[in-house]
Amino acid sequence: MRPFLRIDEHLTLHLARHELAEAVFRAVDENREYLRPWLPWVDDTKSVDDTKTYIRESMQHNSEGTRLTTFLLRGEEVVGSIGVVHFSKDHRKCEIGYWLSENLQGQGMMTSTCACFIDHLFRTKDLNRVEILVATNNNRSRALPPRLGFQSEGILRQALLIYQKYHDIELFSLLRSDWQSAK
Ligand SMILES: CC(C)(COP(=O)(O)OP(=O)(O)OC[C@H]1O[C@@H](n2cnc3c(N)ncnc32)[C@H](O)[C@@H]1OP(=O)(O)O)[C@@H](O)C(=O)NCCC(=O)NCCS
Repeated sequence: MRPFLRIDEHLTLHLARHELAEAVFRAVDENREYLRPWLPWVDDTKSVDDTKTYIRESMQHNSEGTRLTTFLLRGEEVVGSIGVVHFSKDHRKCEIGYWLSENLQGQGMMTSTCACFIDHLFRTKDLNRVEILVATNNNRSRALPPRLGFQSEGILRQALLIYQKYHDIELFSLLRSDWQSAK
């Protein structure tokens, strides 16, 4: 299947599709303990049927243009995901989210994946602003937006509730003008 985007020689992004369900579930299942502190849906992903439901809903959102869910593959293996979790067409902005398998951290893979994905968004969508929201104690994720030229706009207090615990979140943004001047 042709990739949605090619990141490099080994990594490709693929739009959500039914055939990926088993591989996506495997990646989540193998990384359960590491993903769950930051991603509220992990505990609800108990079986491949849950992932099939998620993929079906994602395909629906992708076709309606209300979200854009893609999975990161290294060869045939699913090793992460990046997507637009919310589009605000009225304000020409969107929010993106991502995760990567634990054993591939620390190599810049998600930074290069985000860079490609954001580049695609600005090139193909009528967007003025991309946002990333990160729990302030999620140190690895918090390091990512500044690497991509995002600016920090402040802290939203107790804006995220995961497993009955509130987290402060930091709001980062990249404007189309920032993206253009960095090219
Ligand atoms: C957030 C997450 C994707 C970050 O993964 P990551 O591997 O740290 O991020 P990157 O792939 O961009 O890699 C950056 C690391 O690679 C290193 N690196 C090596 N080569 C690099 C390159 N060419 N470019 C950028 N970084 C590079 C960086 O120094 C950094 O390592 P360090 O933190 O040890 O200094 C990952 O920790 C994750 O999935 N966490 C769980 C889910 C989650 O929190 N999602 C986000 C919710 S907001």
